[in-house]
Amino acid sequence: MLENVAGAQVARTPEEVRAWVREARQNGKRIALVPTMGALHAGHITLVDAARQHAEAVLVSIFVNPMQFGPKEDFSAYPRPFENDCSRCAEAGVDLIYAPTPATMYPEGYQSHVEVERLTQGLCGAARPTHFRGVTTVVMKLLNIAQADVAVFGEKDYQQLQALKRMALDLDHPTQILGAPIARESDGLAMSSRNVYLTADERAAAPVIVRSLRAAQAQVQAGERDPKLVVAQLVAAMTAAGGRVDYTEIVDPETLQPVATLDRPTRAIVATWFGRARLLDNMDLLP
Ligand code: PAJ
Repeated sequence: MLENVAGAQVARTPEEVRAWVREARQNGKRIALVPTMGALHAGHITLVDAARQHAEAVLVSIFVNPMQFGPKEDFSAYPRPFENDCSRCAEAGVDLIYAPTPATMYPEGYQSHVEVERLTQGLCGAARPTHFRGVTTVVMKLLNIAQADVAVFGEKDYQQLQALKRMALDLDHPTQILGAPIARESDGLAMSSRNVYLTADERAAAPVIVRSLRAAQAQVQAGERDPKLVVAQLVAAMTAAGGRVDYTEIVDPETLQPVATLDRPTRAIVATWFGRARLLDNMDLLP
């Protein structure tokens, strides 16, 4: 039996999702999946809207996935405003929420994983060595449960999106993996569930990330060709504003390998700490 939470239908088990999927298919509906860890913000809702363009039935999963958090990371502290998330989904016209428990996802005896090799080694994978294996594993499980026509992911987590596209391609998964643009606050800061960790001062300083990315983009489009120089300026600007840069790289948008010269499409990808929030952002320098 599906639960009703704050006006939204909620499934708790794969069987409940499968029964719902069967019925939607019988009614001729296409299905879209939007995986999330909850603490939903307007950025997540843009993914729901994008999903709606491709399907008549939209399934949002809400699961704070223990497998993608390192031992010293914020798994327990991660915000879980479940009722609020359900009412946001109801407002956005989401047709079903899948909210399993960790024990349902990973029962006693669980021992299978999905790994995408090269794409997950650098950038966020360098500081978070087991993170992407947790992401690809949980997303493969969600894709298998939902059997959706499309699944939508944000470009905010650009490396994640590329790894998931590669996974679906390599493992012949029939669900089409789609990317959606980064949703930003009015001052440009990329929306994130982790922005709630910022103090008022840190929140005021954090838009330096997007400002310096835009400056880098302008510089490259004006003819700068040296990625080292552009990276140095990005790091200097974020550090001067109180950020602690984890990494800043300018990479090929498909392989995520650093480029030697800025003469073809490239993407700048940044992870910077402000206080206890590790903030991600990225931008095309040359489209
Ligand atoms: P979460 O951080 O909750 O993000 C869920 C989805 O929302 C991801 O595809 C993410 O890229 C997207 N998203 C978050 N902020 C966004 C923004 N400002 N603009 C556009 N999209 C945004 O990413 C995860 O959860 C997990 O790793 C998950 C894929 C659910 C696997 O557990």
